[in-house]
Amino acid sequence: MRRKVHTFTGTTSQAVSEREIRNRRLAREAAAEGIVLLKNNGVLPIAAGKAVALFGAGAAHTVKGGTGSGDVNERECVTIKAGLEQAGYTLTSGAWLADYEQEYEAALQDYLSMMKGIMEDKEGRGSLAVVNEILAQVFAYPKGRPIVPADIGDAPVAFYVIARVTGEGSDRYDAPGEYRLSAEEEEHIRILAESECRLVVVINAGSPLDMSFMEKYAVDALIQVSEPGMEGGNAFADIVSGRVNPSGKLTDTWAKCYADYPNARTFSHNNGNVREEVYEEGIYVGYRFFDSFRVKPAYAFGFGLSYTKFEIKTGNVTVLYENPQDVRVHVEVCVTNRGAISGKETAQVYAACPQGSLVKEYKRLCGFAKTGLLAPGASETVTVTFPLVGLTSFDEADSAYVLEAGDYVIAVGSSSDSLCAAAVLTLKERIELVHTEHICPLRGKLREICPADVPEFPAPDTVRRLTLDPGRIAGRRVLYDYTKRRNERKAQACALTEQMSEEQLIAFACGQADSEDGGGAFGAAGHLVPGAAGQTSNQGLGLDIAEMVVADGPAGLRLRQSYQVRDGEIVPVNSLIALNPLLRFLIPQEPADERTTVYYQFCTALPVGTMLAQTFNTELVERLGAAVAEEMNEFGISLWLAPGMNIHRNPLCGRNFEYYSEDPVLSGTMAAAITRGVQSHAGTGTTIKHFACNNQEDNRMCSDSIVSERALREIYLRNFEIAVKESQPMAVMSSYNYINGVHAANNYDTLTRVLRDEWGFEGMVMTDWVTTSTLYEDCSEPAECMRSGNDLIMPGSMEDISRLRKALADGTLNIEDLKRCVTNTVDIILRSNCYEGAKPYGKAEWRK
Ligand code: BGC
Repeated sequence: MRRKVHTFTGTTSQAVSEREIRNRRLAREAAAEGIVLLKNNGVLPIAAGKAVALFGAGAAHTVKGGTGSGDVNERECVTIKAGLEQAGYTLTSGAWLADYEQEYEAALQDYLSMMKGIMEDKEGRGSLAVVNEILAQVFAYPKGRPIVPADIGDAPVAFYVIARVTGEGSDRYDAPGEYRLSAEEEEHIRILAESECRLVVVINAGSPLDMSFMEKYAVDALIQVSEPGMEGGNAFADIVSGRVNPSGKLTDTWAKCYADYPNARTFSHNNGNVREEVYEEGIYVGYRFFDSFRVKPAYAFGFGLSYTKFEIKTGNVTVLYENPQDVRVHVEVCVTNRGAISGKETAQVYAACPQGSLVKEYKRLCGFAKTGLLAPGASETVTVTFPLVGLTSFDEADSAYVLEAGDYVIAVGSSSDSLCAAAVLTLKERIELVHTEHICPLRGKLREICPADVPEFPAPDTVRRLTLDPGRIAGRRVLYDYTKRRNERKAQACALTEQMSEEQLIAFACGQADSEDGGGAFGAAGHLVPGAAGQTSNQGLGLDIAEMVVADGPAGLRLRQSYQVRDGEIVPVNSLIALNPLLRFLIPQEPADERTTVYYQFCTALPVGTMLAQTFNTELVERLGAAVAEEMNEFGISLWLAPGMNIHRNPLCGRNFEYYSEDPVLSGTMAAAITRGVQSHAGTGTTIKHFACNNQEDNRMCSDSIVSERALREIYLRNFEIAVKESQPMAVMSSYNYINGVHAANNYDTLTRVLRDEWGFEGMVMTDWVTTSTLYEDCSEPAECMRSGNDLIMPGSMEDISRLRKALADGTLNIEDLKRCVTNTVDIILRSNCYEGAKPYGKAEWRK
């Protein structure tokens, strides 16, 4: 295999490439399919060419995605205003929008002077403190002046776009202008609702908001446009005009008010304790809570309207016993379009498991399948197949995933609140499907909530009944032997690792480390590809081991849009711009002169993670993954630091938009699909993150997620398990938080026993950025990273190197542990697109 020669990435011409056109088209398709129509009393669709009024912060400043590492520097972004205009609508509210522009400019200037203050006021603070403050200060959009009748003019319909910007480093608040509407927004909605025109409210936010305004005002339609990426405005116009029939579904339960969420009182800053986050709700996350505790939400998980009507009928339900170790349930669902407009529908399959010695949630999602575009009258039979393990619960007493005896009701429908029982699977005796060892013990007592009496899922006698045959179902006991195993299929990496000196091994345990504490390089430590988040060591070039470049995600590839090369060297820029693109106004780059060449790296800004999952379309998400891989190959990126797949435990988590859902099956299935797409190209891979329980952003480096083993396994690990087992991602990123008192980056239980021994993960693990930095009081330990199976410390710093050196010298780090980690990293580098002739990486590669 020949190592590729690195050249400057990108193009020196600004011309739009074929790839950009193709991927933008895909971004538009995904955004249109991820938009969720939550209410429509007939006002939509509206024929293109009509006059409409448009208001709200997100109208001309549509939020395409979140801030921080999840941002993408696209060429241009189509706002809702631009999208409507391009589709031929006439906007009557020009005066209001023009006034808004002035307000926006003034607010931006105020924001920039505050940011200037933060950047200048470095006294006594390390670079990380500045970084954290910059991340925490998100630009809040102004609300706009009062709306008067002249602003509406003769438009029969007004759109009001509520926008929210969030990002990593801080959680949201249950406060006006945040989770709740501000007084100004509510007043705007009131005026529009009471005017002659009909009102469509549009939510341009990646996570749920307070929905109580829907009960107060006459809103004719409600659209969740989420954070739709660079083509959002066009996709929005596609939905409004009916060019695309909406088919998105919510991936979270939207409560009537924030207090309805089970952990509302204690989440993050709400109880003043951001150090300990007690997961008192146990497995009752999202709809599992709302159902089991009989709390009615505003909009249910899986809900979304269409312009047409579908009929859903379940066909055969069978149990597939071919492989006793992997018995599966197979459900056929026939979907018929009974309306007058073509459209797509998602068949959702849930199970209500029997209540036994373990109390269980009312129902859980087991799988789903989306139809193609069905013409009026047309039908399609889709199939959903899921493993029996999807019906198990984790019994802490026996340390096993068990199927308790009783009736398992399989229910099918188009949303979680419109289900019909389709079959009942009866099991006569309890089966231990997977016997494990205990992980992540609690350090103290944890009191979890428990529903008094979980409602029974109605299954009329007419529903077909099948009996599960225990004789044909094989249980298994996990063998915990990863550290003893030698992986023959990593022979080349092993051999290279054996040739390395101690110093080289240490270097390889860290990313290309040239900052003292890693802080200055936060999220933009890539030297080879400007804007990339980091790269591996250059200490292996003598052994022909390439430097491998990694870049964020998850809403596309995050690189700098352009950079300058002078005298053969990349001109450095202040890395803070990488954290917050608005800072470009404060730190302008020098103008290019005759000695400089400008390179352009135009990447595609996709819809955010939640919106991708809202498509419920795994085939589309897989195609998006392949499109990202194409860009990775174009710009010399091997690992994409995506998808983000933490569970939406509470709607105020500042990073929820990057993640898929409150449900582990949906989250895991989407992560597997995008991984399959990325890894369908040779030598590119995903890095599923943040492993695990990274559900809070305030104090994210030091918060301790205190969680029962059952909730951990059934909810917070389950999604990662699905992604690993279904698609074998190249890499996993550990998270910043602690899990039951042990740092997730130093957690042998999750990183080795679960990930490798229980699930068979073969790739490499890396830390999240600067998690080992001593600038944090509670930082993770570099030597512990190695011991626990965290193969690569990112982005790496001189400090990491000297701490590892010391640990080796004083015997607290065993060289064999270090070698095992370096072998994993080198193995992935060797299989990456850093070499000619790389092959697509995935499950097939490792199949025995
Ligand atoms: C984020 C990661 C990201 C990394 C590199 C961290 O702040 O938590 O998700 O991949 O930075 O940019």
